[in-house]
Amino acid sequence: MQVDRLWKNARLATMAGQGSGLGLVDKGLIACRGGDIVYAGPEAEAPAFTAPDVVDCAGRWITPGLVDCHTHIVHGGNRAHEFELRLAGATYEELARAGGGIVSTMKATRAATEDELLASALPRVDALIAEGVTTLEVKSGYGLERAAEMKSLKAARRLGEVRPLSVTTTFLGAHAMPPEAAGDKDAYIGTVCRDMLPAVAAAGLADSVDAFCETIGFTPEQVARVFEAAKAHGLPVKLHAEQLSNLHGAALAARFGAQSADHLEHVDEAGVAALARAGTVAVLLPGAFYFVRETQKPPVDLLRRHGAHIAIASDSNPGSSPLTSLLLAMNMAATLFRLTVDECLAGATREAARALGRLDRVGTLEAGKSCDLAIWNIERPAELVYRMGFNPLHQRVWRGGMGLDLPRG
Ligand code: NIG
Ligand code: FE
Repeated sequence: MQVDRLWKNARLATMAGQGSGLGLVDKGLIACRGGDIVYAGPEAEAPAFTAPDVVDCAGRWITPGLVDCHTHIVHGGNRAHEFELRLAGATYEELARAGGGIVSTMKATRAATEDELLASALPRVDALIAEGVTTLEVKSGYGLERAAEMKSLKAARRLGEVRPLSVTTTFLGAHAMPPEAAGDKDAYIGTVCRDMLPAVAAAGLADSVDAFCETIGFTPEQVARVFEAAKAHGLPVKLHAEQLSNLHGAALAARFGAQSADHLEHVDEAGVAALARAGTVAVLLPGAFYFVRETQKPPVDLLRRHGAHIAIASDSNPGSSPLTSLLLAMNMAATLFRLTVDECLAGATREAARALGRLDRVGTLEAGKSCDLAIWNIERPAELVYRMGFNPLHQRVWRGGMGLDLPRG
């Protein structure tokens, strides 16, 4: 069979199948045609392929391209000064209640043009790309009014035009209260549902809808209204749930068949059971746990016992997780949350793809999926989780293109 490119003499962690296994192949081959994988498996069992381009991987490891399934990477400004205030004793919640926090980023985001938002996000996105990320989720939520939310989502979409990267976008209008809403949360949620969300959906700017269920965010009842509106527009939902307290957001997310419930430090067993039953992915964000010096860990044992899907993401954002390394997020998930190496790798590939509703296209090395690969200079997969601040990527492949022959960018 004629294909475009072959990678041979590689060790594969295909991540295919269920459970925490890595789907290892010792002497593996990947064949790509038209940007998709047509074969990933043992060389010895492969059909006879011919290709104009054959890459000898010299025994290197190949994993699926990494998937960062939760970021707020498009935003104006930064919150380094709030970091200093927190070092002097203020808490994340106190800063938010005092009009800082998300609202201070809102001001900088509203003041920026779409081009400026794109330009300021690119160095952060490039840091993720340099580590093998090939699929990136980006949320809005720092505009908090229709035009600024749409501007942010347009900038997010453009990331996927100027970089060799698959981008999914999430509308997070219900992230925080804009000052002009004068504390009337129900009225603001009405604006989100009747004004912002329909406009975002009509413009095709969002692949899903998220909300922040928290005392400093919105109540479960208010989130349910957002979810109803999302369903009415045919958009799947996800939820920031149980980050700082337990408002039973995970159960709510499960009831709506959410793609994911994210954070979950304070979730209880009923919430975990509901997630597992619904197939809603538990997205753990150790960067935020670390950076806000949270002490309550997500209940990883309960998640395992109930068979919940577990993903890991950077939560890259200016306030609670100014992190632009998915490798470091994996290390933190292992060290702080005690995830296994296999869980970390699945969490940043297959399970992250599931959390985006993209498992049909990315997240594992399987025929029929996009040929998104990360090729590593490592001797065993654990090295991807074990090191801190070191990048062992040899080469990244997006839709079958690599290095300078990347289709775009
Ligand atoms: O995922 N929890 C709410 N949203 C972000 C933080 C946003 C911010 O502080 O700017 C999060 O942690
Ligand atoms: Fe977040």
